Amino acid sequence: MRVASLLSSASIALTLELQAPLGPALSAPFLESDAPSYRGELVSLHKSLVEISSVTYTENAVGSFLVDYLTARNFVSELEFLPPTNASSSSDGDGGDGKPRFNVLAWPGPTRHPSPKVLITSHIDTVPPHIPYSRSDDEPNSETIIAGRGSVDAKASVAAQIIAVFELLRAESITAEDVMLLFVVGEERTGDGMRYFSDTLSSLDPPPNLKAAIFGEPTEGKLACGHKGFVGCTITAHGKAGHSGYPWLGKSATEILMRGLVKVLDTDLGSSDLFGNTTINVGLLEGGVALNVIPETAVARIAARVAIGPELDGGKVVADRVEEVLKSVDDEAFELSCNNGYGVVECACDVPDFETITVNYGTDVANFEGNHTRYLYGPGSILVAHGADEAIKLKDLEAGVEDFKKIILHALGEEAGEL
Ligand SMILES: *[C@@H]1O[C@H](CO)[C@@H](O)[C@H](O)[C@H]1NC(C)=O
Ligand SMILES: *[C@@H]1O[C@H](CO)[C@@H](O)[C@H](O)[C@H]1NC(C)=O
Ligand SMILES: *[C@@H]1O[C@H](CO)[C@@H](O)[C@H](O)[C@H]1NC(C)=O
Repeated sequence: MRVASLLSSASIALTLELQAPLGPALSAPFLESDAPSYRGELVSLHKSLVEISSVTYTENAVGSFLVDYLTARNFVSELEFLPPTNASSSSDGDGGDGKPRFNVLAWPGPTRHPSPKVLITSHIDTVPPHIPYSRSDDEPNSETIIAGRGSVDAKASVAAQIIAVFELLRAESITAEDVMLLFVVGEERTGDGMRYFSDTLSSLDPPPNLKAAIFGEPTEGKLACGHKGFVGCTITAHGKAGHSGYPWLGKSATEILMRGLVKVLDTDLGSSDLFGNTTINVGLLEGGVALNVIPETAVARIAARVAIGPELDGGKVVADRVEEVLKSVDDEAFELSCNNGYGVVECACDVPDFETITVNYGTDVANFEGNHTRYLYGPGSILVAHGADEAIKLKDLEAGVEDFKKIILHALGEEAGEL
């Protein structure tokens, strides 16, 4: 999940709710007769993934772990190396660890099947900082809470997807040629891992002809009908400096910018039944040089969560509306510079027995081009995902395994009821 908009009050409420079972009543280990047979395997895989730090641009170690893990379990793996990125020169000043970055592709073995029908994918990078793994009980039970960076976003999905595929293969509900796994780098920043996979898919020999792709991101265990689009803009207001005692001799850039921004915030920039309103976050404001000088320049950086389509141009539609609104306030003072952006990204949410949801964060769904059916689902809550209290209940992680099984079977055209 990229660029989360965290609601602090909701986040606190959820944290309390998650922490409640840590009290003495439930801290003693107890045996559960209904524990799934894969509990130990799931907890151990999830633990290994969360323990390995994999902040974006430093995903090499977790990728290597996954390759070894899957290869040891009769999967065929391929490391898809990305061209070197100069992370240290990026505008945000991240440093990589200098090690090559790669996506992990894997197929149930012993040989690679040429035409899988369903892609099962998530990302292995996390937001910073790395937070160590911790667990509320030594002996895991369904109320156990597992914390650490990536425990939700998205290593809960990675672990649950892998165990779901193991389970379906063991039960012979799917065959080795039905599915392939893809775990990408870079989702939390630019989506460069998924973009690279998408761009180079046709050079795989032979190129798979995928019918569906299942994306793992925290959706609270609900099936997402889609997510909002995004566009980011820098607004610069130009004025004329002067003595603050004689405002009519200058032109205040901060004042114009404030009037412009308020009007942008008060304007309906596009809404839809499924996704609600386009919302604006004024994330950064800068302007002027001193309290007694009429400001010559003022800058705002805004993020729009786009509630309208089409997927390709919805972001541009909103950026154009912002430009019109600013022009109506002052037709020469503003300069607007926006990234490409995108509109709402819709996903299939017709799998029986699932609650549905729409979410307000970005994902890799749109970075994988093609005509496949798209599903977006994952265990864990978006509200803790990028926070210091990132954590998941084991029973939600286990529900994730069961739900991924259903979605995979549905995507393959099976009756989910066959399980
Ligand atoms: C990477 O960026 C840094 C900082 O801008 C620059 O000094 C360095 O030459 C760049 N390296 C490459 C390989 O482009
Ligand atoms: C969307 O904006 C309209 C005003 O333009 C407001 O009446 C409505 O409550 C907003 N909807 C949501 C879900 O915030
Ligand atoms: C998707 O389908 C359209 C129309 O059939 C086709 O033109 C296009 O090439 C397809 N795209 C991909 C990536 O297969």
